[in-house]
Amino acid sequence: MERKWWQNAIAYQIYPKSFCDSNGDGIGDIRGIISKLDYLQDLGVDVVWISPMYRSPMVDNGYDISDYYDIDPQFGTMADMDELISEADKRGIKIIMDLVINHSSDQHAWFQNALTGPDALYRDYYVFKDGKDGRPPNNWRSQFGGSAWEQVPDGQYYLHVFAKQQPDLNWENPKLRQELADMVNFWLEKGLGGFRVDAITYIKKKQDFADLPADADDGMGDIYHACLNQPGIGDFLTELREKTFDRFDCMTVAEAPGVPYEDLGDYISDHGYFSMIFDFSYADLDLENSNGVWCKPTPWTVNHFRELLYQSQLAVQKEGWGAVYLENHDQPRSLTKYLPEADRQYPGITMLATLYFLLRGTPFIYQGQELGMDNCPMDSIDEFDDLSTKDQYQRGLDEGLTPEEALRLTAARSRDMARTPFQWDDTANAGFTTGTPWLKVNPAYHTVNAKAQCADAHSIHAYYKALVRLRKHSEYSDIFGYGTFAPALEQYDNVVAYTRTWEGKRLLVINNYQNKEIVVHLEEPIQAVVLNNYEGDAPSGQDITLKPYQSLVLA
Ligand code: NOJ
Ligand code: CA
Repeated sequence: MERKWWQNAIAYQIYPKSFCDSNGDGIGDIRGIISKLDYLQDLGVDVVWISPMYRSPMVDNGYDISDYYDIDPQFGTMADMDELISEADKRGIKIIMDLVINHSSDQHAWFQNALTGPDALYRDYYVFKDGKDGRPPNNWRSQFGGSAWEQVPDGQYYLHVFAKQQPDLNWENPKLRQELADMVNFWLEKGLGGFRVDAITYIKKKQDFADLPADADDGMGDIYHACLNQPGIGDFLTELREKTFDRFDCMTVAEAPGVPYEDLGDYISDHGYFSMIFDFSYADLDLENSNGVWCKPTPWTVNHFRELLYQSQLAVQKEGWGAVYLENHDQPRSLTKYLPEADRQYPGITMLATLYFLLRGTPFIYQGQELGMDNCPMDSIDEFDDLSTKDQYQRGLDEGLTPEEALRLTAARSRDMARTPFQWDDTANAGFTTGTPWLKVNPAYHTVNAKAQCADAHSIHAYYKALVRLRKHSEYSDIFGYGTFAPALEQYDNVVAYTRTWEGKRLLVINNYQNKEIVVHLEEPIQAVVLNNYEGDAPSGQDITLKPYQSLVLA
């Protein structure tokens, strides 16, 4: 693979609504982000991905864009955005924005024009179809629940893979594709470092628009089967890349669910559509057999998690480059997801960090993950904001759960768990805002906050900094940046271990993913302990006893 700057970059995701509020309206904003750039630089971040800040009615917190050329007033102005790009640049940080081009907001001028009738100028920027016998054109179920079709006053229906306020754009239309390419170039010309590309595998729709086999009592079929990674999508993505990304030295990371491993080369090789993708196989292991219903979590084991992780690493390595992550704004906090309640402590948290951060790929840290922020206790469904959480709660009730059970299970998976305000310090509202925060602040902020952790050499935050140093500024940096990945120590249950090898030099990363000791036998005696999440005597020799949740990096 050709070497690229983003291969040894450390990325950090900001959910702007929840990061830092500069003007007391309870909502995070661009000036808030600017005020925290030093914090990000100190952590060692090179790339910051910010979830959408374009003008939006915020039905899906910005993933519903009404003007691609403007910043939403709740986040600031275009001048603030320009200042953010240049202030970040001074600190060696590139800003990447979210590119949401599978759908727009229903408030976008194109859609408002399309609503004026079947002959409207922008009607074919969207997917309009006739209904069948007074019913929607087919039985596709949207990703956020209910029919994927919404009727308009003239009688036709439009398609929405996500919420009805997020009408899908019609990529079959070359004029639409050109408008989007121009818009992408507008932002890249501003000096943006690139994009995280939203829901991009949905852009091609199966053109027969036929019914799907029903997969639930509602008689509908998951739209996944008709709109995800469909044949022909490559033509659209190749055109997009050639007209935009190829002209800049930018980084693109695609949210690309539904890409089978055998197709990965099209997406992430040197000539792929994107620099890298997020692979969801292991992040969604707790929903593997849930048919999209959060209230029916799939039980999983560490060995299964390990198997999915290894498969993902090997498949991506074969074809190109990947992004590695534990959290994002669509997932609950990793502590809750990956650790039993009693084990959400320093050893378990730092073990998880080590496990993913040294994999092959560009590591992403989600805001607050570096502090070990956990899910927030919620007392009622009314405390949630996220539209899909509300839908999922209803699905739980429909499945016959009691309101208490539905709340408990929905909360455990809720996207709002990642969206509670960032915990800066132990003052009111965790120092996030002087006003009333738009979403509940996790009461844990009294002890879990950035100020306390930055002053403590043994904090989770300090451990993340050590990981960053190891990846970027140590004698091992090339091995972590470019080395190949291979599974190791697979004969031991609940041990997630791997080697990274580069130019004849090899490192072994061992993670004891359980709350008990285990003795492992190494092929070769330890030469050096490069990292250890336990203090005290360094292990040596060939037979080593790993403590509960111990992580070791060995040369
Ligand atoms: C994926 C985004 O990550 C999620 O937050 C959003 O709701 C959907 N795409 C729709 O844009
Ligand atoms: Ca604000």
